[in-house]
Amino acid sequence: MRTVRVSLGPRSYPIRIAPGLLARLGRECAGLGLGQRCAILTDANVGRLYARPAQRALTAAGFQPLLITVPAGETAKSLATVRSCYDQLAAHRLERQSFVVALGGGVVGDLAGFVAATYLRGIAVVQVPTTLLAQVDSSVGGKVGVNLKAGKNLVGAFHQPRRVLCDLDTLRTLPERELRAGLAEVIKYGIICDARLFAQLERDLPKLLRRDPRTLARVIARCCQIKADVVGQDETETGRRAILNFGHTIGHGLEAISRYGRYLHGEAIAIGQVAAARLSTRLQGLPEAAAERVARLFERAGLPTTVRLTAPQRRSLWAAMRLDKKVRGGEIKFVLARRIGAVVPNCRVDEAEVNAVLDTLASRKP
Ligand code: NAD
Ligand code: GLY
Repeated sequence: MRTVRVSLGPRSYPIRIAPGLLARLGRECAGLGLGQRCAILTDANVGRLYARPAQRALTAAGFQPLLITVPAGETAKSLATVRSCYDQLAAHRLERQSFVVALGGGVVGDLAGFVAATYLRGIAVVQVPTTLLAQVDSSVGGKVGVNLKAGKNLVGAFHQPRRVLCDLDTLRTLPERELRAGLAEVIKYGIICDARLFAQLERDLPKLLRRDPRTLARVIARCCQIKADVVGQDETETGRRAILNFGHTIGHGLEAISRYGRYLHGEAIAIGQVAAARLSTRLQGLPEAAAERVARLFERAGLPTTVRLTAPQRRSLWAAMRLDKKVRGGEIKFVLARRIGAVVPNCRVDEAEVNAVLDTLASRKP
């Protein structure tokens, strides 16, 4: 088993990465000194596959788990679902010492984390991420929240989990498209922090795509280590944590203008990262060849790297980007790369530069 530690003083916690961790869920929770009542929050797809083993493991360790199942998909990340979860927690009489287990992908993790952050002014949450994206990113670092009609993740909190358990076995049932979407966040870590990881991904991509357990374990642990280091330095994103948003400015904009129906998050940020690499060539001196390596790796991962937008769509994209949480004083802030493995946050980029890059993305032959 690999363990990565997130160091945040009294809120520090381990991320465990191994096969078979679901069976250890009860034992892991028993070490936390929490009450017997707890809730497993999951979605319909994940619940069908993994709720029983999670319930068994908790019950065997003396816990009394309530199962809350929400519909699968981004629309479950809403205040309406939060309210329904509160009602179920109250009916089951969860107390201050109770805890929530978030069993699922990033949607469940963000939702369950937000419910835990706010119910009774905050109870514990244990993250059990079951998508690649959630294992390398969303389950770590404490950002939790839900969407509003006006935009994604506009209501939320920082609420660190007490444990993160990445059971590698759960990735076996993950649909192919979701695995590839998770790779977009994996590749991001190489670009922002670790040129060696990026080169390793170029070499080992075929193994990742066929879900080779050893390669997955090594890569997930490295990504978690990078995220743990960044979060340990800047828990609430007053500075360095912003680098994790590489490719997300345009990516979130694309998700918004397509009403969250066309792209998975990972797909949108793949395009966003290729665009950010092109902007970096223009504005930060990123060598052309490096930007080409970035685009090529996303292509090989089966992720989209091109986008063709009409003039009105480009205006909508710019407007959507201005609604992003990363806007400061009305200015859209980008993370750009100087080289693979080193990025600069808070870069000002004007609309004409973005449009010039969108022209290159429209004409690129995949
Ligand atoms: P998701 O949670 O919607 O899961 C994707 C799909 O896979 C769902 O249909 C789910 O039911 C299914 N699934 C999950 N695990 C499975 C498994 N093991 N086997 C079979 N099916 C499985 O999507 P996601 O990509 O995991 O997460 C996306 C969400 O994460 C977005 O809402 C995004 O905003 C959020 N996010 C949050 C952070 C953060 O720091 N909090 C970071 C990145 C993304
Ligand atoms: N996924 C970005 C962050 O956690 O800060």
